[in-house]
Amino acid sequence: MEPVNLSRRDLIHLAAAAPAVLSAQNKGDVIRVAFVGVGNRGSFLLKHGVRVPGIQVVAVCDILPERAEAAAQVVAKAGGKARVWNDFRKMLDEQKEIDAVVLATPDWTHKDFDIAILEVGKNLYAEKPLALHTRDTGAILQAAKQAKGIMQVGFQLRHDPNRNAAEKFIQSGGIGRVLMCHGIRHGGDLPRNIPWYFDKTKCGDIVIDQGIHILDLFTWAIGTHPIRAMGSGGTDLFVDEPKGRTVMDNYSLILEYPNGVRVNFSHHYFDPPGFSGDQERVFGSNGSVDLVSATWKPRDRKSEPIKLEVPNAGEDSTYMSLAAFAENIRTGNRKPVNNVESALVSTLVPIMGTRAIYQKRIVEWEEVAKEAGIA
Ligand SMILES: NC(=O)c1ccc[n+]([C@@H]2O[C@H](COP(=O)([O-])OP(=O)(O)OC[C@H]3O[C@@H](n4cnc5c(N)ncnc54)[C@H](O)[C@@H]3O)[C@@H](O)[C@H]2O)c1
Repeated sequence: MEPVNLSRRDLIHLAAAAPAVLSAQNKGDVIRVAFVGVGNRGSFLLKHGVRVPGIQVVAVCDILPERAEAAAQVVAKAGGKARVWNDFRKMLDEQKEIDAVVLATPDWTHKDFDIAILEVGKNLYAEKPLALHTRDTGAILQAAKQAKGIMQVGFQLRHDPNRNAAEKFIQSGGIGRVLMCHGIRHGGDLPRNIPWYFDKTKCGDIVIDQGIHILDLFTWAIGTHPIRAMGSGGTDLFVDEPKGRTVMDNYSLILEYPNGVRVNFSHHYFDPPGFSGDQERVFGSNGSVDLVSATWKPRDRKSEPIKLEVPNAGEDSTYMSLAAFAENIRTGNRKPVNNVESALVSTLVPIMGTRAIYQKRIVEWEEVAKEAGIA
């Protein structure tokens, strides 16, 4: 599809017309929220959650009592009061005045915990990935469709102001027809203080647990799921480090989408600090966009890269995602930007990639979609 005939200036303004998430907040009802799993990610969500207008944190839960206590302290410091729990099912049974749950427990728990929370009618903000296995993604989708509450998934980069503006620019036709996405995620190794990150049975390996965010942004930019995946990867530097490691430390993926659109993604942990980092670029028939910086470069070689207008510039993506969650609950919006359907696709994509790497074969979308029950 060729772009509509708008000037660059029009297109930049169109990109800037993002939903006024921040301005809409003060008018609604208070939403009583429980944070479940307050480790690395959950405590970061909580730090931002306590400052979202209208979110009242009424409960915190972790199987590690000291983490739950520390979380309650964070709430107290922000002027609130949260009940402390170590068993979230007991919490759901006994503390009825909870409207929503923010769940950040490890990946292998998502399927059972997501469904348990949806079944008792709570609104759910669930961390990514949706699940580790194809059939489980489909089970969560069914539960979310039947649930009273809304479900939003932890693809918070969709709410990052720069990336959000860049994606809207692409979707408005700003770079013309999308041709290719190129991503790199090069850094040091995973944090050693979270042992389950190194166990592929618990995290699904690093495409599913880590690469998932950039792949989600590319699928969003292209606007549909890939047709097939191919890839290669392994563990070549951090062999058995830490002891018992079963996850890779590097891989490369190529994903083919309809109409010849391709994603090329390189992810490894060999990068000396600050050497190459992250890159998320989308190339189109009229020019290319850098999602991280929200700049675009027309194919006209003379022009400098152009910074897009970015609403809420500099605001944290996790804050924006939680603010959107609160707003979606108030308005009953069952199709958030990071919704369960897009999360299902964006979980199946790294599952395809991981299979392609492990089994050294091309993996078709049909295969995983059938297993998930959506084909
Ligand atoms: N969106 C992002 O950018 C992002 C970043 C990091 C992690 N994550 C996701 O967040 C989730 C948590 O990852 P993490 O890095 O915080 O791991 P973590 O191990 O630091 O934290 C998980 C917490 O869950 C607790 N927990 C485990 N079982 C529980 C249960 N039954 N009830 C209550 N608490 C329980 C653990 O004690 C721990 O405190 C994962 O799904 C991960 O993929 C998302």
